[in-house]
Amino acid sequence: MTASDTTRLGILTSGGDAPGMNAAVRAVVRAALDQGMDVYAIYEGYQGMVDGGDRIRKMSWNAVGGIMQRGGTVIGTARCATFRTRAGRLQAARNLLQHEIDRLIVIGGDGSLTGADLFRREWPGLLAELVERGEVSQAVAARHPQLMIVGLVGSIDNDMAGTDMTIGADTALHRITQAVDAISSTAASHQRTFVIEVMGRNCGYLALMGALATGADWVLIPECPPDTDDWHDRMCQMLRAGRQAGRRDSIVIVAEGARDRQGNPISSEYVRQMLEERLGEDARVTILGHVQRGGAPSAFDRTMSTLLGYAAVEELASATPDSEPLLIGMRNNRITRAPLMRCVEQSRAVADAIAAHDYDRAMELRGGSFREAYEALRTLVRALPRPSGAGQQQQRLAVLHAGGPAPGMNTARAAAISTPSPGRSKRNIFKGFSSSVAGPAIRPPTGSTANAITSQRSTSRSSVSRPRSTTISPAPS
Ligand code: F6P
Repeated sequence: MTASDTTRLGILTSGGDAPGMNAAVRAVVRAALDQGMDVYAIYEGYQGMVDGGDRIRKMSWNAVGGIMQRGGTVIGTARCATFRTRAGRLQAARNLLQHEIDRLIVIGGDGSLTGADLFRREWPGLLAELVERGEVSQAVAARHPQLMIVGLVGSIDNDMAGTDMTIGADTALHRITQAVDAISSTAASHQRTFVIEVMGRNCGYLALMGALATGADWVLIPECPPDTDDWHDRMCQMLRAGRQAGRRDSIVIVAEGARDRQGNPISSEYVRQMLEERLGEDARVTILGHVQRGGAPSAFDRTMSTLLGYAAVEELASATPDSEPLLIGMRNNRITRAPLMRCVEQSRAVADAIAAHDYDRAMELRGGSFREAYEALRTLVRALPRPSGAGQQQQRLAVLHAGGPAPGMNTARAAAISTPSPGRSKRNIFKGFSSSVAGPAIRPPTGSTANAITSQRSTSRSSVSRPRSTTISPAPS
């Protein structure tokens, strides 16, 4: 046993790996060293804490160099059954105290964070037992009367309250988007229907946002099962209407936790068979699986995880034995802190609501932006706009791109054009402001040109659109 005045902090990743975990580990190690702390990586999650020995290693600044761009977690992770037992946690406490570690940053999902909180609550009792058994000295126990913890949410599912994004969700969404884009081209070539299953457990975030990002034609998510028993008919009608309107590919995204109103799972294979039979056309299933979880993290996951790791160290540096365990997350683009267990309980409440078939509650608990995304998708999957009502005054709305082009402009334009607004007709203005002045390039959107427009449209820097100032002299020629 060593006596030390230096603050010692442990970090572990637990549960399913998530891209961005490495960036968080790097930030934690370097921020802690910079604060004058000793920092230990606990390899293989809670299993490493239970095993001890060389699974708990002191980290140096350089030990975490070059890891940020790597997928997974370089310090390993596990789903550990032993840590769920008190005996396992007793062993884990003894191993931490061998290094005099009493501050812990846990990066994992709700199960891992709940485990951390239980460990913290039991700590004084575990300590007393270790002293009684002679495995920890009275002096060491007195120096570390409480375990202080901070949680970061590492999970591609984006299923945790208290943060807008969990570590890895953005990367997984990119992966889904790329995969669906790729599948769309083969689907379009054969005029096939593809049913694509995505991960997320009880959370429909990846399915819903994946559908929005790829312009999919239907989505099934756990929080909002189809609201009628004839959902099969409605889905088929929608897909048929899409074909009739000229869509060559039909894409249905199914969350792995999708279910019907009675709570019966809706599997991707079930949807495929049903579509093949009713539509009378080829349908295929692609289960994206762990491709969604592996590989290099997105820029967002790297930066967010870095900022979270940094903030977690700041929090633990000033923590006292009385400090409430916190979850560090991101809300409205700012790093935020929230009581850890309140966040876990709120997240669990969604799963409970789904299990109780209380889907209104599940949607409400997911929050306003989730519902807004769902409402937008319901509109955008339509094959054609709703017809305007009789006698409704016709309004005209024009869409143009101006200034430098930016990725995403086409999607925004397509959404604006597809959003049914009875009584309003839409026009594309080609070539930006200049043609709105010259006039010839203003055309109604048509179903068949909807995609072609995206590559033909250009933005134009027209002097007409720019505010002029008489006080600026022209540059000398
Ligand atoms: O929680 C992350 C997650 O990837 C879920 O989306 C998925 O259901 C699960 O983990 C898969 O777990 P495993 O890798 O243990 O099969």
